[in-house]
Parts: sequence; C-alpha cells; structure tokens
Amino acid sequence: MPEEKPVIIYGGSFDPPHKGHIALAAAALRELKPRALFFVPGFRTPFKDLQPLSFGERALLLKEALRSSALAGRREVAISSFEAAQRRVVYTYETLAHFRKLYPRSPLYFLMGSDCLAGFGKWKRRREILKKAVLLAGLRPGYSMKAAGTAPFRPLKGLFPRAASSSLRGELFLGGKPPAVPRGVLRLIERKGLYLARERALLKGMLSARRFRHSLETARLALELAPGLGLSPQKAALAGLLHDCARELKPARLAGPAFKARTGGMLYGTIIKEAPVLLHAWAGAEIARAKFGVKDREMLEAVSLHATGAPGMGTLARLIYVADLAAAGRDFAEAGLVRELAGRDFAAAFRAANYVKLSYAFSSGGWVHPLSVSLWNSLQEKKKG
Ligand SMILES: [Fe+2]
Ligand SMILES: [Fe+2]
Repeated sequence: MPEEKPVIIYGGSFDPPHKGHIALAAAALRELKPRALFFVPGFRTPFKDLQPLSFGERALLLKEALRSSALAGRREVAISSFEAAQRRVVYTYETLAHFRKLYPRSPLYFLMGSDCLAGFGKWKRRREILKKAVLLAGLRPGYSMKAAGTAPFRPLKGLFPRAASSSLRGELFLGGKPPAVPRGVLRLIERKGLYLARERALLKGMLSARRFRHSLETARLALELAPGLGLSPQKAALAGLLHDCARELKPARLAGPAFKARTGGMLYGTIIKEAPVLLHAWAGAEIARAKFGVKDREMLEAVSLHATGAPGMGTLARLIYVADLAAAGRDFAEAGLVRELAGRDFAAAFRAANYVKLSYAFSSGGWVHPLSVSLWNSLQEKKKG
C-alpha cells in the first residue's frame, strides 16, 4: 500500500503559546507538506492550591495565536486534546501510539525545539519512539550537537529564536507585554484575567499607584529569586503582589475579628495600641484568602509574616520578607545591598533584612514585636550551631 503524506505532532505545554511555536510549525509545514499538523498541549500538574492554565484556556490562546499568524485558515493544522484528556502526564510514546492508530499509513514526525532534544536521553521508551516517528527539531542559535546527546533527528532548515516559556510567564505575571507573545493573545490573557491579570486588576483598585508599584517590584524580585530556592514562580509572584493588599486600610478597619483570628490573638491588644500598622500583614492574609481566593498555606504565611518575620518561617515567607525590604524603588541604602546579596547568598540576605528592620525599629524607639526579636535570636543560635 502506498505511503500517505506525513503527520506532524507538536507536543509542548504552550503556556503561553508564542511566536516561536508558530514559526516552528510554519517551517515544518513548508518543508514536509504534511496532511496534518497537530498541536498537542500536554496535561499540566497542578500545585496543591494553584491551578495552572487549563487545557481549555491554553487551547483558546493557541487558537488566537494561530488566527493572527500566517497559519490562519490552514486546514491541516489542528489542536489535539488527546494528552490533556488523560488528566495525567502522558509520555510521548503513548501520544505517538495514539496517532499511529489514527494514521496507520502516514509517516509520523514529532516536532520540538532543539532544547527539548537535549533531554531526549531521559524520555521513556526511546527506542519505541524512534521506531514510530522521526524527531523533527528546529535549531536555536548557539545549538551544539554535543548537547543534543545521541538522538537522531531531522533538523528543519534555518534557525529559530529562543523564547523560554518560563520567562514569558514571569513577564506576564507582572503585567508585562513580551513581544514574543502575539498581541491578540495578550489581549485575551487580559480579558480572561489569566497569568494573575485578574489579581493585578483587583489589587490596583485597592492601592495607591505608589504602593501598587512597590507590590509589583516585590513580586518581581520574588520571581527572580524563586527558582534558586526551589519555589514556584507563580506562588512567589502572587505572594509578592498581595503582601501589602491591606496596607492602605484605615486602622479602624484593620481591627476586625477575622483579622484578629489571623494573628492567633497573640498580643492583639498590644499591637493595636503600640504598632497598629503591623496588623496590615495579618489582615492582608485574610483579604488574600477571602477576596483573592488564596488557600495555599505557604502564601498566606508569607503575607502574614512579611512585616514581623518569625522564627521557623517557611521558605516562601522568607523570600517575601526579603523581597519586600529589598525591592527596587525602596529609598534606603540597605535595600540595594540586600537585593544584591540575595542573588548570591539568600540566607545571608535574610539575616541582613532582619538586621536592617530591627535597626530601624530600635533607632526610632518604641515597641518592637517579639516575633521580630525571636527571629533575630533564632538566627544567632543557628549561626553558632
Ligand atoms: Fe507591608
Ligand atoms: Fe511592602
């Protein structure tokens, strides 16, 4: 029986879809003239309380990216829900088996960027994959054959710009408009409130322009430091954005019972009398829960403790504590020093942040929350131990 025209399978997370994806698909269409090219967005593993973009949302963005590109109206291009419908991580050999059944007589090509190729040595059932399909890769500038390992593949003609989805997501979390994301896709993200657009819009209505900028800068620094601490960038960005969400409430409004519950009632009367401004941290956590729907305990802890700190606070809480103090736009000299230190030695930056906060508190006189002092003591004990 004669062989039919090839079928191209393009797997990835498409979170978000960008011009690099479209360019790769367009090149593959030009070169192979297939009967079909399927974008196959994979299932994304959810964090405890943090849902990644659903397949439906990513498919919507991908459709928009296609609509506004040179691939608009190409009948052979389609989006497959096969992997997402399995509700689990699907291996490439399974996806290929699925398409082999659908197209028994077509040669299959599995399309990817050259950086994915480098990880091929760790894929499951590699021999089976290579028997079922030809790997088709778009090479990026600076690509080295050595880094690609031993996977045999067919390179597409030309070079393709590097566009890392993780850094695009970071920009989107902060409301940036990365040029690698098509304009129609950016508009849709805004309209649907994706990539924290909903949260940013809500927050903007609660804060002055100055404080909103500070929140964005705190989120930016938290995002930058999160990977080095093994933290989810999205959680870091959202906790950074929300940490001061109650900062501009009038003191009388900070004294509600729900906010009192967040402090655990600890020293509540004294805080109200001596340093009511500190209440914005616990109140912020309560507002993050009630108004922004944050259920994640690490994020709530980070907002609760960003002002005082506390011994034994979690990694995300430590990150927000440092990012708040050292965010760009802070007008005291130590901020820049702590920011610079945080990139090299986060533990040292955390100790320095505690030192700076306490020095300011002591030099201005008055009452200091015992949690801040306990944090100081716990850090001294660790240093000796
Ligand atoms: Fe604050
Ligand atoms: Fe702050």
